[in-house]
Amino acid sequence: MKPSQGIPATVLLIICLVSSQGDNPYNPGQYGVDSLDFSPQKDDIPLHTKVFFPKSTGKFTPIVFIGGLYGWVVSESYSTLLSNLASHGYIAVGMDRFYLDQTDLSSPDFKPRKISGLEGESQALQLYFNTTQWIKTHLKRQIVATADWNKTSLLCHSAGCDDTLVMVNLSRTIAQASVFLDPMSVNAMILQPIESKLKVLAYMSQLSEEKPMCCIPGTDYKKIYDLVNCTKVRVQVKDFGHCDILDDLLWEACHIAHACRTTDNKKLGIYRNFTTGVIDGFLQWTLHGNVDMQKYVTNQAYMPLPLVDLAFDLTC
Ligand SMILES: *[C@@H]1O[C@H](CO)[C@@H](O)[C@H](O)[C@H]1NC(C)=O
Ligand SMILES: *[C@@H]1O[C@H](CO)[C@@H](O)[C@H](O)[C@H]1NC(C)=O
Ligand SMILES: *[C@@H]1O[C@H](CO)[C@@H](O)[C@H](O)[C@H]1NC(C)=O
Ligand SMILES: *[C@@H]1O[C@H](CO)[C@@H](O)[C@H](O)[C@H]1NC(C)=O
Ligand SMILES: *[C@@H]1O[C@H](CO)[C@@H](O)[C@H](O)[C@H]1NC(C)=O
Repeated sequence: MKPSQGIPATVLLIICLVSSQGDNPYNPGQYGVDSLDFSPQKDDIPLHTKVFFPKSTGKFTPIVFIGGLYGWVVSESYSTLLSNLASHGYIAVGMDRFYLDQTDLSSPDFKPRKISGLEGESQALQLYFNTTQWIKTHLKRQIVATADWNKTSLLCHSAGCDDTLVMVNLSRTIAQASVFLDPMSVNAMILQPIESKLKVLAYMSQLSEEKPMCCIPGTDYKKIYDLVNCTKVRVQVKDFGHCDILDDLLWEACHIAHACRTTDNKKLGIYRNFTTGVIDGFLQWTLHGNVDMQKYVTNQAYMPLPLVDLAFDLTC
């Protein structure tokens, strides 16, 4: 028996169109979102961490995030992106290398944490690993959503990606996928190719590579793309800059100081939603095997913003 028997073709076509539209990763997320802060003082977690999560029950992919300047730009400054991701069904875990809260400042024995040099870097990596471990153990008591740690993804911005790259080099099992946003990585220049089945999305905004250069060609997304095996995708988004992914307050500071080139602010919402859609489409395709999603990250015709570079490699 044919599956379409008795159902007119036009009806089937409409059903297909409607359901495929619902799956489009560039559509708004479906989940209500909440967030929680964990701090070393209050929770005995190694690093201050902000988690954005769906308020629903169910199994969701965790995304462990490190922000710019080696994690010194706090994840709170990326709350638009991270909560957008949570609304698409991810548990976004933002780790902060350095964070000051009221309790720190008012505590009589408050000492700023000193981290410097290479020793500081390796200590920071341990702190990231240990913080991820803490979240794996403790988060489930705090929220109803369940993190599927078998599908752990990493996400980073700018020089935070230097840390992420070393993490995936040191541990082949820490993550199944890694998304590099506007990466800037000194280690990328010295690292040997990383032999693993890690799925990698290397994402770059075009203006990051223009004066004043906030990412330097040769240490950025193309270099990371070359270091990893497969599945890998490389995109460069036209006319956006390095700070455009940040929340409004820090974006404003960057824009006024001309620290990096930015877009005009009318397009910021569209841009952050685009970034969310690329990440969601990539992870649904490569981690969850949803092959219908591939076109949304490898075919310009299905992507709502123009690209200046797009490449991918599926041969492992
Ligand atoms: C971006 O997505 C959010 C939530 O998914 C939605 O509320 C907002 O209107 C979108 N912004 C733009 C400019 O499309
Ligand atoms: C990370 O955890 C391990 C094992 O519990 C511990 O030995 C190490 O000192 C921790 N590292 C840091 C920097 O806290
Ligand atoms: C993760 O994988 C292990 C071993 O393959 C399995 O026992 C466990 O149920 C999986 N966890 C989830 C949340 O799927
Ligand atoms: C990458 O890993 C290799 C061994 O797995 C190690 O020898 C090398 O030092 C690592 N590089 C960095 C930059 O961590
Ligand atoms: C990827 O895999 C191939 C075949 O296993 C190997 O020759 C190559 O060195 C690997 N690494 C990169 C970065 O392509």
